[in-house]
Amino acid sequence: NMPILDQCYNLLDFEAVAKRVMKKTAWAYYSSGADDEITLRDNHSAFQRIWFRPKILVDVEKIDMSTTMLGAKSSIPFYVTATALGKLGHREGEVVLTRAAAKHSVIQMIPTLASCSFDEIVDAKEGAQIQWLQLYVNKNREITKGIVQHAERRGCKALFITVDAPQLGRREKDMRTKFEDSGTSVQSTNGESVDRSQGAARAISSFIDPSLNWKDIPWFRSITNMKLVLKGVQRVEDVIKACEAGVDGVVLSNHGGRQLDTAPSGIEILAATMPILKQKGLDKKIEIFIDGGIRRASDIVKALCLGAKGVGIGRPFLYAMSAYGLPGVDRAMQLLKDEMEMNMRLIGAPTVADLDDTMVDTRAVALH
Ligand code: FNR
Repeated sequence: NMPILDQCYNLLDFEAVAKRVMKKTAWAYYSSGADDEITLRDNHSAFQRIWFRPKILVDVEKIDMSTTMLGAKSSIPFYVTATALGKLGHREGEVVLTRAAAKHSVIQMIPTLASCSFDEIVDAKEGAQIQWLQLYVNKNREITKGIVQHAERRGCKALFITVDAPQLGRREKDMRTKFEDSGTSVQSTNGESVDRSQGAARAISSFIDPSLNWKDIPWFRSITNMKLVLKGVQRVEDVIKACEAGVDGVVLSNHGGRQLDTAPSGIEILAATMPILKQKGLDKKIEIFIDGGIRRASDIVKALCLGAKGVGIGRPFLYAMSAYGLPGVDRAMQLLKDEMEMNMRLIGAPTVADLDDTMVDTRAVALH
């Protein structure tokens, strides 16, 4: 007696259903965080330390929540972030997310470790739909170059280099259930055989290059014209370095709490970062995104008030997909749009450009 889709009224409802209906191994892989999961839990609760300061008597009859991220149009300021192994949750995998994103004019970030092949995910795209590529950098740079240039040829508009995972975190829930689901295929990027005894995450990540460093960034610029973004930046000093390195954007993120436990949440790093960027005149030089724990449109609004260009959402779409397939992801996106419209109306901001830092009270946020 699974709840019918119409009875899911918010993104957390999908999580509750997914937990009940998903295979144990899949639930463990999607839901787990690193170590004691302190960062995982705080990602969502950090938003609850921020309060709104709504404006009254603003004409909010018409609400326009559309925006651009890295030069690409989006109907709403969130994107589907990269999450590996879509087929653990649904037999069709990542293309389900592609179709929902198409329907809602939302941008999709394609993971290096997708269960569908990269080309299948691009082929599922409709019309002018925008896709970005998330990259785990392979020790073999020729392989990396091949992946990047192929993505550019296939129309990807931005390259998100994941920089918070020189080694995959210990996700013990995942390790306990092991990675025994032999029905799930992974697009191996270098054909190495994998050790499956340590959970799904470890099994698929052995190719990632831990020697990646700032000196490598110009090389990425030299091999592609896509926008360049660092995903997983966790301190303002590194945002400044990223500006100096000439990248187009950063994602303030702790990888959904799956890497370094007790790393700060994206929203709190944002609150600490923007005042310093403004002071240095760097805030217009780079686009700032955050991800982690975004479950309500009010979370998106808070991030935008604090200067983010957009936010990434991961698990909620995986849960909606796993529980209900395409109709689930479709409904999850629609619920976010409905919430967003209401939130913008109630805070007194008819467009995303009207959202500013006077509309949030961040006094309860610890500035790391
Ligand atoms: C991820 N994430 C991730 N990030 C990345 O750069 N490459 C990847 O392969 C993956 N894989 C992945 C799998 C799963 C199951 C999850 C939940 C997450 C991290 C992801 O892009 C993002 O940072 C977080 O998911 C954001 O947090 P929420 O929205 O899941 O709370």
